Amino acid sequence: MNLKLRLNLIITILLLCIVAIGGMYTTQNARKNIQAEIASTAVLAVHMLDAEIVQLGNYTGWIDEPSGVKGSVFRLSSLSDVRHVKVEFFDAQGVLRDSNRADNIIEDNPPPTWFVRAMDTVTTEMPITKRQVYQAGNTVGELVVTPDPSYEIAEIWEDTKAILRLMALFFIVANILIYWAVSKGLRPIEKVLKALTELELGNFASRLPEFSLPELTGISQKFNVMAETLQGSVESNRHLTQQIISLQEDERKNLARELHDEIGQHLTAVHIDSAAIVKSTDLTMVKESAEAIDGVVKQMMDIVHNILQRLRPTGLDELGIEAALQELVSSWQQRNRDVLMTLQVSGDFLDVSEPVLVTVFRLVQECLTNITRYADAEKVDVNVYRIGNKINLSIKDDGMGFDTQIKPTGFGLSGMRERVTGLAGEFELISHKLKGTEVKASLPCVVKE
Ligand SMILES: Nc1ncnc2c1ncn2[C@@H]1O[C@H](COP(=O)(O)OP(=O)(O)OP(=O)(O)O)[C@@H](O)[C@H]1O
Ligand SMILES: [Mg+2]
Repeated sequence: MNLKLRLNLIITILLLCIVAIGGMYTTQNARKNIQAEIASTAVLAVHMLDAEIVQLGNYTGWIDEPSGVKGSVFRLSSLSDVRHVKVEFFDAQGVLRDSNRADNIIEDNPPPTWFVRAMDTVTTEMPITKRQVYQAGNTVGELVVTPDPSYEIAEIWEDTKAILRLMALFFIVANILIYWAVSKGLRPIEKVLKALTELELGNFASRLPEFSLPELTGISQKFNVMAETLQGSVESNRHLTQQIISLQEDERKNLARELHDEIGQHLTAVHIDSAAIVKSTDLTMVKESAEAIDGVVKQMMDIVHNILQRLRPTGLDELGIEAALQELVSSWQQRNRDVLMTLQVSGDFLDVSEPVLVTVFRLVQECLTNITRYADAEKVDVNVYRIGNKINLSIKDDGMGFDTQIKPTGFGLSGMRERVTGLAGEFELISHKLKGTEVKASLPCVVKE
């Protein structure tokens, strides 16, 4: 069931409860009032009739008038205004001779039976009073006073009807207003749903308008920030993927060139020298050719070593991260002899999985490359240490520094950040113009399987 119907149903149930409780309370009150009024009227009527009976003279002629003709010495018909009790006079034969109620009164709008039944219980709780009428020592008839709530019930019914009509009107108006207000209030949710669906379909430019309700304005602002962030990350992912592809292509081209230029050349040299050995009968020449081959092979070994170093950090598997970093740092130091370089590695890394170690190595490698290219530093400190389940690293220089707010065109820093966050780690870049740069990262130790 949707929200609109649900709210309307709740309101209906609430109103019905209020009507039921109000109805019960009113009925109870009305019954008490009727009871009190009828009781007092009945007592008064009985007193008056008692007085009348006492004052009856000895003329009994009135009693001989033909039966069926209304009227008696009590002139009960003149008491038609006494509405809460029915006063009747029956002669000695039990024939109704006089009453304060006219015959065949048909009310215009009688109350419904259920209402009468709900009210009428008062009469069952009240006694009927009877008085024998004596004249000249004979019983001439009987006066009967019966409580009669029908007028009162009709009156209360009129009031109740008016209240019920008012409530029905209120109920209809309230429901219409609630339906309208909820429809209006829910309209922004349809917009939110539409915007979310667009996001789901990949339209990250989808935004929400500002809503008039303050609660929804918060949602729209948060949604727009989220969509913007998402759009930014998707764009940067696209950018990174393009960078990776072009880097891969560059790397392949480099490899192809090196294989062709360096290895190809050297292999040709080996081929020529070995062919010379095959043909030669002179031992000295064989020796020279073999030495030449040895020299070329050594050069080839260096080339292969360099290529492998670029493709994958050497020594990580065999020697561990500490030795690999030592080698990286000392070869960097050879190229940057003026810089005072320190490397500190502490902790046990034996159980740490390879992707984490490769990331540590690549971060240090990229930072050192950046320092050579941009920092013009005098001092560089590299610190790698393990605390519990975290590997922390810091690469700090005292060089030029740079404005970290400017979006870099290169791939190094964003690649580092991507690598670290990809391993659920934290990355921080601190740099101030002329005050050096520090790259900090903290990586959770994913343990080897
Ligand atoms: N240690 C540093 N000292 C001074 N400036 C730096 C340092 N590290 C980075 N930068 C600045 O940050 C910019 C971005 O560096 P980043 O490594 O992302 O890209 P890049 O080195 O220019 O290119 P790539 O790494 O893709 O070859 C650099 O161009 C440089 O201006
Ligand atoms: Mg770089």
